[in-house]
Amino acid sequence: MMNSKILITKAVEAMEKSYSPYSDFKVGAALLSKSGKVYTGCNIENASYSPTCCAERTAFFKAVSEGEKDFTAIAVVGGKNGEISSMCSPCGVCRQVMAEFCQKDFMIILWDGKLTKAHTLEKLLPESFSL
Ligand code: THU
Repeated sequence: MMNSKILITKAVEAMEKSYSPYSDFKVGAALLSKSGKVYTGCNIENASYSPTCCAERTAFFKAVSEGEKDFTAIAVVGGKNGEISSMCSPCGVCRQVMAEFCQKDFMIILWDGKLTKAHTLEKLLPESFSL
């Protein structure tokens, strides 16, 4: 599997593109497909607030819209004003989007600027909803 450090680096680069003038909280994500391609995403906010899209969903929707449906891992980083000083754990809505396309062993890689943490999707969204 691609080195998680490379994926984290791509998430940090994506975070720089964050459009977040309302919260000033910048988030970046890098999603690795089983074919080896990386799709990045940032959070994109809106003056009307609720249309805001998280970095993770931006990455997923970019990938799925390009024909990808199989994924291995996602790296997520974020912080106020882009200062990464704690883990940025995916919100519940993004976890549900992950559950749509990923198996239980899909890896969610977090980085707080110093340490790396990796969780399975099963751990972050146990007993998830499906039809
Ligand atoms: N945000 C993400 O991009 N991903 C998450 O998992 C949590 C929250 C964004 C949404 C919003 O633009 C900002 O962080 C503050 O909530």
